[in-house]
Amino acid sequence: MKTDLSGVKRAARLSVAPMMDWTDRHCRYLHRLLSRETLLYTEMVTAPALVRGGALHLLQHDMSEHPVALQLGGSDPAELAQAARLGAQAGYDEINLNVGCPSDRVQSGCFGAVLMERPALVARCVAAMRAAVDVEVTVKCRIGVDDQDPEEVLPEFLAHMVAAGCERVTIHARKAWLQGLSPKENRDIPPLDYDIVQRLKGLFPNLHISVNGGVTSLDQAQAFLDAGLDGVMIGRAAYHTPADLLCAADRVIYGKGHDSSPEAAVHAMLPYIETHLAAGGRLNQVTRHMLGLFAGRPGARQWRRMLSEGAAKPGAGPELVQAALEQLEALAAAQEAV
Ligand SMILES: Cc1cc2nc3c(=O)[nH]c(=O)nc-3n(C[C@H](O)[C@H](O)[C@H](O)COP(=O)(O)O)c2cc1C
Repeated sequence: MKTDLSGVKRAARLSVAPMMDWTDRHCRYLHRLLSRETLLYTEMVTAPALVRGGALHLLQHDMSEHPVALQLGGSDPAELAQAARLGAQAGYDEINLNVGCPSDRVQSGCFGAVLMERPALVARCVAAMRAAVDVEVTVKCRIGVDDQDPEEVLPEFLAHMVAAGCERVTIHARKAWLQGLSPKENRDIPPLDYDIVQRLKGLFPNLHISVNGGVTSLDQAQAFLDAGLDGVMIGRAAYHTPADLLCAADRVIYGKGHDSSPEAAVHAMLPYIETHLAAGGRLNQVTRHMLGLFAGRPGARQWRRMLSEGAAKPGAGPELVQAALEQLEALAAAQEAV
């Protein structure tokens, strides 16, 4: 079922970040089993791929993923509007524009973080996307790039977004350095500045602002919400330790429901895996997102090893996942007995 507009905003109290090659539909299916409420984002899909390349398969997702947002990359207002239309028609609850990703490929196409230097263009993109769809149009940005002064450029950037009708932004609370750092380094080396995000919330009280970058626990996320921010987006920690971040999220962040368990999620993945294999897919396309499910628990290493070694073998199926879970449970029971 699609989610209504206010539902998406509520869901945005906690979100799992868009991550290329990571938050594909199998990953999102798993995350949704762990948390009913958290807003999920797709990997970035470029507007040219959808509009010029006709790559509509990139929009495939499962109905259970809602609330789910499509992230687009691009900088041509008309093309982004058309891509947003395709995304809304495909059923996404939100269309997000990437103004934060510093990879070479993204820079060369004039996508992503380099657009922090062109707020008027981003505003035209947002306005065109908004005119094209009924679902919310949002932006994910950095606090600045290269030698920009965030105190100067970020308020100006957000003012442009508000004027263009953007009601919600997610700010990755560090700069992107477009020269000399790899995309991976750009997620770690420029220092985090949460204070500026907090101050910007004071300046733009009606703009829904989510903070992103370096959040590794639900307690930390809750502290940002308590301090007045509207949402928290979590990337790497949600991917590497999904149970720690998502199993208690519905109760802790939304005051709803019961905690989920990674064991129950594994059981629920088995029929999903059967369907994926029956459609010609491979086991490790799904299980690679499940490796961190038991991180920090007895048997986690063996779980990870059994799946990563076994899932790429021809003919591997759900029985491998079942056997890995049984092994994990036996190891945990043995440890408890000691
Ligand atoms: C593997 C990977 C791929 C990413 N791909 C995207 C992307 O497609 N779009 C985007 O806006 N950010 C992307 N990011 C950045 C994350 O969305 C997030 O902003 C960043 O990881 C900081 O949050 P974290 O410290 O919670 O991980 C990616 C990050 C990782 C680790």
